[in-house]
Amino acid sequence: MLPTLETLGETLGGLDGRRILLRADFNVPLDADGHIADDFRIKAALPTIRWLTGQGAAVVACSHLGRPDGSPDPRYSLTPVRARLGELAPGVELLENLRFDPGETGDDDDFVQRLVEGCHGYVNDAFGASHRAHASIVGPPRHVPSAAGRLLAKEAEVLLGLRAKPKRPFLAVLGGAKVSDKLGVIDALLETADEVVIGGGMCFTFLAALGHSVGDSLLQPDQIEACGRLLGSGAPIRLPSDITALAPGERVVQAGVDLHPEWKGLDIGPGTAAEFSDLIAEAGTVLWNGPMGLFEDPRFAAGTKVVAQALAESRAFTVVGGGDSAAAVRQFGLDREMDHVSTGGGASLELIEQGDLPGLRALRESVGTPEEGHDG
Ligand code: 3PG
Repeated sequence: MLPTLETLGETLGGLDGRRILLRADFNVPLDADGHIADDFRIKAALPTIRWLTGQGAAVVACSHLGRPDGSPDPRYSLTPVRARLGELAPGVELLENLRFDPGETGDDDDFVQRLVEGCHGYVNDAFGASHRAHASIVGPPRHVPSAAGRLLAKEAEVLLGLRAKPKRPFLAVLGGAKVSDKLGVIDALLETADEVVIGGGMCFTFLAALGHSVGDSLLQPDQIEACGRLLGSGAPIRLPSDITALAPGERVVQAGVDLHPEWKGLDIGPGTAAEFSDLIAEAGTVLWNGPMGLFEDPRFAAGTKVVAQALAESRAFTVVGGGDSAAAVRQFGLDREMDHVSTGGGASLELIEQGDLPGLRALRESVGTPEEGHDG
């Protein structure tokens, strides 16, 4: 069991006047002028912040932003996030980017001790970063009583629930560019899902494994064998039956699954989008991770949009993995129609694949928790 905010309150004999270190994932997208392009990750931490401040705690928040190299870099300063957080949750302190110190990614215990100095407890609500064994994620539970925030607890419950007790039929819809990033999660999903449907750039490596000509589309030749093995194992995997492609002269063409050498497949075709929608309509649970095509370009957004719409209309329990598919549902204004939109890209895939994350493990083993040392 993950220690909850309530358990932390009990362990500390109440939170009034207590100083709590909150690790959030405020790694928000910034536009070219350095303004916050989407504040969803800041809003996602508000239930935890409000609960803690409502109990009288003083909250000191911390986060990373981008991937600076372990030294201060103004491009990655949390100043814009601090301003937005100040509007949404006045009075909450926010430290500077954790990754300005090499101790963060190195899980240096001196750095951890500086972070927790003066704090009575620690709360991890940074689901999107909990697959990183970094100082601010795995370190504080070694020193002070710790708990999962509301967001982290919800993400873990929903995503682990997919592995444990999905309502059937359980359909996984996977897309995205690289098949190498997804083979582990496909393997794990084939253990529990009734069917895995595959679109996006990665479908071309599967199609190539079946001997189709994929033209100039994205292809990972070194993964063809692995895809062929999966398909040959009789696993319930469904691939597109038609493709929308870009042909020379900027022509958008519809094709089957064998493309002219100069054509570049950039979206699933309308027939496939309709097939996938029918499967979504019949499902009890749908997990969607990865766009069906290059949805940022309106000419190749249809497949992703049709799938998003089908999830929005479905009576199934619908879960959207973080990263690009979460960005797509927000772009289409459909995020509120989903049962759960994860705030973590890599973290959601790793949790589904491994069934645990370094950040969750650290909380379960935290000093001062009643379940100390026990898994579960
Ligand atoms: C994310 O955006 O996926 C998280 O904030 C983790 O960021 P990272 O991949 O730089 O560790």
